[in-house]
Amino acid sequence: MKIVTVVGARPQFIKAAVVSRQLRKHTNEILVHTGQHYDYNMSDIFFEQLNIPHPDYNLGISRGTHGQMTGRMIEAIEDVLLNEKPDKVLVYGDTNSTLAAALAAVKLHIPVNHVEAGNRLNNLDNPEEVNRICTDHVSNKLFACTKSAMDFLDREGLSDKAFLVGDPMYDAFSFYSKIAPGIEGIGLVDLEGKKTSVPVCYYYMTCHRQENTDTDEKLDSILSAMESLDAPTIYPVHPRNGQRAKYICEKNNYHNIILTKPVGYLESIALVSHAKKIITDSGGLQREAFFAGKQCVTVFDNVIWPETMVGNRNQLAKPDKEDIIEKLIKKQILDSDYLPFGDGHSAERICSEIIK
Ligand code: UD1
Ligand code: UDP
Repeated sequence: MKIVTVVGARPQFIKAAVVSRQLRKHTNEILVHTGQHYDYNMSDIFFEQLNIPHPDYNLGISRGTHGQMTGRMIEAIEDVLLNEKPDKVLVYGDTNSTLAAALAAVKLHIPVNHVEAGNRLNNLDNPEEVNRICTDHVSNKLFACTKSAMDFLDREGLSDKAFLVGDPMYDAFSFYSKIAPGIEGIGLVDLEGKKTSVPVCYYYMTCHRQENTDTDEKLDSILSAMESLDAPTIYPVHPRNGQRAKYICEKNNYHNIILTKPVGYLESIALVSHAKKIITDSGGLQREAFFAGKQCVTVFDNVIWPETMVGNRNQLAKPDKEDIIEKLIKKQILDSDYLPFGDGHSAERICSEIIK
């Protein structure tokens, strides 16, 4: 069986790392990188650290508006599919690369299998929500990470093609945590390229969603909350808002925030595991905080991973200093028997369904 897998963004490389390892035991996998993420520390570092096979195609498509990026990708992916004639196309998550691959494949009548199907915010202003809904509705197998995702698929009449498999991000976290460095082995690099070390006690933040970072006002409110905390915050900044974060920190003379370049996956899960608490707007980081038993505050309007929102383990906050601090000081209640993301073997389940 020949599978074309399409990836393009950081969270997809992580999921593909664990699924691809299984898939290649049974199929001929052709890996396509759209090029959506292209900096060394947003792309190549994941292939190196996670031993992901070198892409067979790199389409070199990034930047532009959502429509421009998605349109250019559809055209280029169609060429690859016409050339490779795969039996199936495999896509992950909710980026523009996901949607482009799903549309290119379905138009050529090639079955699409979607990993991380069924998550919903009920908010079409969010670009990833549009990608998720469209991809789910044109796919012929839907791999849901959680029960709540299965419920959404059921409500949209998609349960016949949905499979509850667990979360490949949990597989990755369980597998790679064993080889992640200790914090003393992590070399952070600041935005000027200078090395800086990890403090003993710190908060870990990632924040890159267009909803939080496309204007100074919201990002400044979030950063002012971090500035007021009882320990420094390590904030590896996504390239989309690195300059804006630097400008806000300099303008306000913030000293309690360590702005760094994006780190590799092994460093990121190590930083999660040793942090005091996590502040994020990333779907991946919310789950990693949960896997590590670290309390998380998610700066966003909608819940995307309902299973994490128990016992104050993950709470929504507005991009507002007081609200973020109020949520950060609440105590979390942990229940070690509560394991809603599967058993760390979702990749095996995904592969056995793909090859059926
Ligand atoms: C995308 C995904 C989002 C995911 C995020 C981070 C969509 C709609 N969104 O958003 O779900 O959470 O990736 O993983 O696809 N840039 C660089 N270097 C890079 C990558 C990006 O400089 O390696 C800059 C470019 O100027 C680009 C901007 O960041 O225009 C935004 O990148 P883009 O891929 O459009 O969206 P993300 O915010 O990364
Ligand atoms: N991550 C990383 N380096 C960083 C920031 C995040 O490796 O500098 C990892 C993080 O641990 C998680 C994943 O990237 O595994 C989340 O991806 P992202 O936040 O880009 O996308 P999302 O999960 O929101 O779709």
